[in-house]
Amino acid sequence: MPPKTASPKQEIARLRRLIRHHDRRYYEEDRPEISDTEYDRLYRALKDLEARFPSLVTPDSPTQRVGGKPLAAFGVIRHRVPMLSMDNTYSPGELQEFDARVKRFLGGEKVSYVVEPKYDGVSVSLTYRKGALQFGATRGDGEQGDDITANLKTIRAIPLSLEGPVPKLIEIRGEVYLPRAAFEALNRIREKEGEPLFANPRNAAAGSLKQLDPRVAAKRNLSIFCYGVGAVEGAGFKTHEEVLELLRAAGLRVNPHHRLCDSMGRVIDYCNGWEPKKGSLTYHIDGMVVKVNDLDQQRRLGVTAKSPRYMIAYKFPAERAVTQLLNIEVNVGRTGALTPVAVLKPVLIAGTTVSRASLHNEDEIRRKEIRIGDRVVIEKAGEIIPQVVEAVKSQRTGQEKVFRMPGRCPACGGEVTRDEEEVAVRCVSLDCPAQLKERLVHFAQRTAMDIEGLGDVMARQLVAQGLVKDCGDLFGLTVEKILPLERMAEKSARNLIAGLQASKARGLARLLFALGIRHVGSAGAEALALGFGAIGRLSRASLEELIKLPEVGPVMAASIHDFFRVPANGRVLEKLRAAGVKMEEVQAAPVSGKLSGQRVVFTGELSGLARSEAEGLVRSHGGMVGSSVTKKTTLVVAGASAGSKLEKARGLGVKVIDEAEFKRLIRE
Ligand code: IVH
Repeated sequence: MPPKTASPKQEIARLRRLIRHHDRRYYEEDRPEISDTEYDRLYRALKDLEARFPSLVTPDSPTQRVGGKPLAAFGVIRHRVPMLSMDNTYSPGELQEFDARVKRFLGGEKVSYVVEPKYDGVSVSLTYRKGALQFGATRGDGEQGDDITANLKTIRAIPLSLEGPVPKLIEIRGEVYLPRAAFEALNRIREKEGEPLFANPRNAAAGSLKQLDPRVAAKRNLSIFCYGVGAVEGAGFKTHEEVLELLRAAGLRVNPHHRLCDSMGRVIDYCNGWEPKKGSLTYHIDGMVVKVNDLDQQRRLGVTAKSPRYMIAYKFPAERAVTQLLNIEVNVGRTGALTPVAVLKPVLIAGTTVSRASLHNEDEIRRKEIRIGDRVVIEKAGEIIPQVVEAVKSQRTGQEKVFRMPGRCPACGGEVTRDEEEVAVRCVSLDCPAQLKERLVHFAQRTAMDIEGLGDVMARQLVAQGLVKDCGDLFGLTVEKILPLERMAEKSARNLIAGLQASKARGLARLLFALGIRHVGSAGAEALALGFGAIGRLSRASLEELIKLPEVGPVMAASIHDFFRVPANGRVLEKLRAAGVKMEEVQAAPVSGKLSGQRVVFTGELSGLARSEAEGLVRSHGGMVGSSVTKKTTLVVAGASAGSKLEKARGLGVKVIDEAEFKRLIRE
């Protein structure tokens, strides 16, 4: 119990200390001392007290982990010491070669190694200044990454302030991951809500850290293991073991299963010992990492272009099993892609029963010569969703059947297309139920028809209640029809109907983008709208006429051509026209003609302007915006970390300017 005389400030400090202590017991040591309810009580007490004394709230309080508002975009953080990648080995022989290389480089010195698990997550860098978490970033291109501080702060295993004597500044490197159970729970929820599943915990962790809304990341139960440091000011270490010990003592989560080995033989034994046990861990590991322990030796070994010479990953072989392929079903994804799925006689791999596996696409089935009825090898590697590796042809009976992709969509019966560049077969019908929700969300988004009140949740309800079968039906909705929907009040119902009404006047370019025609982005839609002026003319255009537009290549032309030849799409367009949706281009008169005749491409990150704003400026000054650099491009505006487009522009001799110059050009 707190002493009766404790001031609010002292009480707040006491509660924070206690919460931090229990966080550490729970998240770092896996040895909780109190129940979740007791923990919640402490947390609530702190929150109440801080609400009464807002001036006592500090950024490192445990109540400040989840920020209030979603971000508009991530900022960029430059790593003081680059974040490299690591070479892989797959056999003890290759580890011996690595050892020989290291020793040769060091002139035959004795070398000890630290071996630790290799986690399958996302690498991050945490910067603590004077012990306080200043920011956290993704690896990015190794030199600079996204500023994901807000998301990282929601991870309770990441202390907001370090304990004990800590360096003035330290960049801590670690892996954010999703524990197995959290991954499975997340996918169960996604399945129930009709969302696409994450293929493995790494994708799920990466997806969670990329969320602009930290409240989403906060719900994902992410955790971290810290395994190294980047820049350090005000401390020195001699060995990697010492680094790990400092991290642990400072309150960071360090994996307990690291081991110092004084010979490569011991390293190999330790690695091999973990392989059969890896399933007993509460998180996924795909191998072990072997690091030279002595930091002076590490320094002398140095780094190659992309990876250090003093560490190597030893990857475990993927787990495999043989079973029978009972059937091949075809799923329709939310983008209309038809994917063959193997239906298997259930088989146990790496502790779970597998009865379905991905076959990716028809070409792959053909290339691997897989037939229905075959005995097949199934593999579960880093991918939690298992893959069919090959057919055991020697065990064929002659009864096996060759698989053919259906010529029609299994979800709506519509025709399917396959574009030249892709191996995927797709359904392009606007009324296909398998794609409907995503199509509606795309149709309504801000850069498309900009329909206020129509987001993910609303789209899902409209589909689930059968109120909308395609985007044309949206305009037949009335306040009375949508009022019975969950959490729908009179006011929000009126807003949605008003939002729909307002969207009718957006014009052809936005409508074309909203229809979600493959390969037609907003720049492409703009070019089509300018080139053809009205949807009727566009829908009748031949491939040759389409390709005449400089922004339209053969792939995009074929996709547009196909789209207008699907009867269901014609019916939806008719509905839209009947509802009064504008199908001609509405072009605002340009503010000036400064950029007329110019074809401008933006690349890299702009700092003072949103991309859409910059593009708007080009158009309002009479120019056109392109998405890729071609011979027809006249000007490239390159922001920070511009990559291949900039190179291409230089190669083609296209004029390149930076953001400041672009602004000057517009202002002049
Ligand atoms: S040390 C040079 N230690 O594996 C960068 N990395 O395949 C290596 N990883 O980018 C940093 N477990 O994200 C290190 N125990 C471990 C690791 C580990 C997983 C990740 C890390 C790295 C990737 C390279």
